Amino acid sequence: MAAQNLIRFVVIIILRVFVKSSESISSDNLSPASPRRFPPYQGVRGAYWPSFTDFPAASIDTKYFTHIYYAFLLPDPQSYKINITELDQTKIPEFINGLRYKYPPVKTLFSIGGGGYDPNVFAAMAKTRRTRKVFISSTIQVARHYGFDGIDLDWEFPANKKDMANLALLYGEWYEALVLDAKIHRKPRLLLTSAVYYASLMVRLGDEPRLYPGEAIRKYLDWVSPMCYDYHGSSWENFTGANAALYDPNSNISTHYGIGSWIKSGVPPEKLVMGLPLYGRTWQLKDPNVHGIGAPAVGIGPGDDGTMDYNRIMEFNKKNDATILYDAVSVSYYSYAGDSWISYDDVGSIKKKLQFASSLALRGYFFWALGQDEDWTISRQGLKYFHK
Ligand SMILES: *[C@@H]1O[C@H](CO)[C@@H](O)[C@H](O)[C@H]1NC(C)=O
Ligand SMILES: *[C@@H]1O[C@H](CO)[C@@H](O)[C@H](O)[C@H]1NC(C)=O
Ligand SMILES: *[C@@H]1O[C@H](CO)[C@@H](O)[C@H](O)[C@H]1NC(C)=O
Repeated sequence: MAAQNLIRFVVIIILRVFVKSSESISSDNLSPASPRRFPPYQGVRGAYWPSFTDFPAASIDTKYFTHIYYAFLLPDPQSYKINITELDQTKIPEFINGLRYKYPPVKTLFSIGGGGYDPNVFAAMAKTRRTRKVFISSTIQVARHYGFDGIDLDWEFPANKKDMANLALLYGEWYEALVLDAKIHRKPRLLLTSAVYYASLMVRLGDEPRLYPGEAIRKYLDWVSPMCYDYHGSSWENFTGANAALYDPNSNISTHYGIGSWIKSGVPPEKLVMGLPLYGRTWQLKDPNVHGIGAPAVGIGPGDDGTMDYNRIMEFNKKNDATILYDAVSVSYYSYAGDSWISYDDVGSIKKKLQFASSLALRGYFFWALGQDEDWTISRQGLKYFHK
């Protein structure tokens, strides 16, 4: 044990020296917690596992992660109880059994909702104490039945102030139910986390500006996971842009702004787990000779509905002999070949984002999604910034 601690200590020193000697980026008006790099609590290195793709859970290399989320389970729109579909009946056991005996061990959570799920169901469920209770009980029952370590809510998105107020009630009642459940079963409390908009104030995708309930998040959640991507896309804009800009001098649509707004809203850095995309977004250029960020576009580019996974982008770039550029302003990469244009993250930009997260002493980061990396190239970058 003593020897183990000594080794850990030496490793931390080595990592500290390494991190210090590497380039650090300015997080200007946010309050950085440097030079402390490693927080005293466990860092989170999370990743979502989409049950609807064919990447086997058993092939997840757990040395790169601490928490893996099953994505997604859905509530029934009438009863608000979690509906275990036929797919889930085979995929949940695959997930749990595939990860159960892995070394190093990881914690498992299931995520409820996702970008494709009807936000009105969550809004209706969150409206009354009775329906919240039905939903909460059902989530705990599912977690205990299958042996998950935690529950994640991915409601995209609360549409107005009323939804946000109900979300605060939901978080509070959920937390209380989890504490009670832990007491009754004499087991560790289930984790409670939530994927949220990249910024604490939502000004798009709904009726009115509305602020997430920072106070309830601070009190009741283990952490929230701002989704720091999907900033620009060919499905809704006719000019190219960075999928996940760290900085944008011309707008508030950036991770720097978003994470800063979360901290200002009263959610402490140790309750923030920053989202990183393992995919890019693609455009069809209007003119192949006009190919910078902000270039006119006429539609979606190659891939899947204007998105492309990191491993497919590497393949595309090679096959098409694409021109690859790093944009230091947004801290992101883009490539183009003919009239195809792709915005994405690669090792260089991911490192800078991890340095940013680490300099603010955030709890950690997560990836959307497993199965999209190329031989763990991107996934392994976080090891030196957030320890287990
Ligand atoms: C619930 O799951 C069952 C079993 O797979 C499925 O047939 C049904 O359509 C689901 N209901 C909803 C509302 O998703
Ligand atoms: C882009 O869309 C806007 C409004 O949706 C339109 O006014 C503009 O002409 C479009 N630009 C191009 C280059 O298609
Ligand atoms: C950016 O956010 C700040 C405050 O957070 C606000 O005052 C400003 O108007 C926003 N700018 C834009 C372009 O939305």
